[in-house]
Amino acid sequence: MAKESTSATLQDALELTFEGKTARLPIVRGSERETAIDIASLRSATGLITLDTGYGNTGSCKSSITFIDGERGILRYRGYPIEELAEKSNYLEVAWLLIHGELPTKTQSAEFTSQIVRHTMLHENYRRFFDSLPKDAHPMPVCASAVATLATFYQEPESDDRIRESIIRLIAKMPTIAAYSYKHSIGQPFIYPRNDLDYSSNFLNMMFGTPCENYEVDPVVARAVDLLLILHADHEQNCSTSTVRLVGSSMAPLFASISAGISALWGPLHGGANQRVIEMLEQIAAEGGDVVRFVERAKDKTSGARLMGFGHRVYKNYDPRAAILKKTCGDVMKKVRGGSGETARMLDIAMRLEEVALKDDYFVSHKLYPNVDFYSGIIYKAIGIPVNMFTGMFALGRLSGWIAQWLEMRKDPAFRIGRPRQIYTGATQRKYVPVAERR
Ligand code: CMC
Repeated sequence: MAKESTSATLQDALELTFEGKTARLPIVRGSERETAIDIASLRSATGLITLDTGYGNTGSCKSSITFIDGERGILRYRGYPIEELAEKSNYLEVAWLLIHGELPTKTQSAEFTSQIVRHTMLHENYRRFFDSLPKDAHPMPVCASAVATLATFYQEPESDDRIRESIIRLIAKMPTIAAYSYKHSIGQPFIYPRNDLDYSSNFLNMMFGTPCENYEVDPVVARAVDLLLILHADHEQNCSTSTVRLVGSSMAPLFASISAGISALWGPLHGGANQRVIEMLEQIAAEGGDVVRFVERAKDKTSGARLMGFGHRVYKNYDPRAAILKKTCGDVMKKVRGGSGETARMLDIAMRLEEVALKDDYFVSHKLYPNVDFYSGIIYKAIGIPVNMFTGMFALGRLSGWIAQWLEMRKDPAFRIGRPRQIYTGATQRKYVPVAERR
């Protein structure tokens, strides 16, 4: 059995002895005092690997982008609390912060915005790309494919300059891709980007404008979208970000890595949860609004139901993004047309659901609290974003985080291709059986 003991210099390293062989495993500390054991030499020294299904306790990199303290409900981008950024910043500024590490100066901000604005259009050949897809295609796989397709339009080898251009192109074209994916799904003409509008207003105009009449962007709605993009912008090594890093670690281009991230985000346990929350609230409403009964069902493991928008791998207190959104929900509902009737009823059900769950022993003992997806869907609904676009909105925001994480990985002096190990549990060596002899 493995025996652990601390080494001579207390807390510099752990010594782990297994079957007479000892590994000296350095202790690594982060700037917020998180502590890890560097197990890189463990296998060569002792023959052991680590097993951590779902990577619940595995650090895959050192990163200076986002800090989360799940026990205390803290989220900071580059040291800035999410609450402050949500109140005072805007999405493009946050994107710059994540990618460059500092808030932009006034000049940098103006230059960045003007570069983004100049790259918003898609190549006209994209029309044929969209035309070739089924008319009811879900916007998420369409977005993922359209972003991967960018790699066919911009094929130059990835120098530092090219990467800088690709970053601008991605941030500029992603709202166009997302809006076109939606327009395609409802059979409406694509609306060209408008460079006189801010990032979120331009996106809303492409989503809801038509060639037949002017679409007036409601500033309350544009601000709500911008806020949601900020809140979703990064969340350290989650499933889609780890996917982006892993794909990028093979030296696959940025566009391909981001496309993989969009696919990873699509799943209902990750970004797809916001769509599932609304479907859950609609189901509860259709069944008469009995939240207690639904909470009972979510606790029953045989029912197959979970309380969508609840629980998080990292947050064991409260997701600070959910706290901001809960407050924003009320404000947005008061100010926009869509905030009446159906969405007001949903907000009411969501708040009652939260109240019941937070007093329930099961949810308390499992440390399950509302996550960012619990309230974001209600805001999207209130401001008229169609349900099948909810996860696309998440992708739009997360894009800047994916880019920042991809760049950080590529510039890391310790950069290596990502390649986990496994414990093999299959058959041991056996002889090939010719088909005539198989039973
Ligand atoms: N409703 C009921 N029970 C739950 C829930 C839930 N939403 N979430 C977790 N549990 C239970 C689970 O059954 C398990 O119970 P037990 O230990 O008795 O077997 C325990 O809590 C731990 O669950 P887990 O699935 O092992 O936890 P995880 O860290 O692997 O999963 C999660 C985290 C977010 C996938 C999960 O909580 C979940 O499925 N939540 C609902 C989907 C959701 O809202 N996802 C959005 C996440 S936030 C946005 C993002 O970052 O993508």
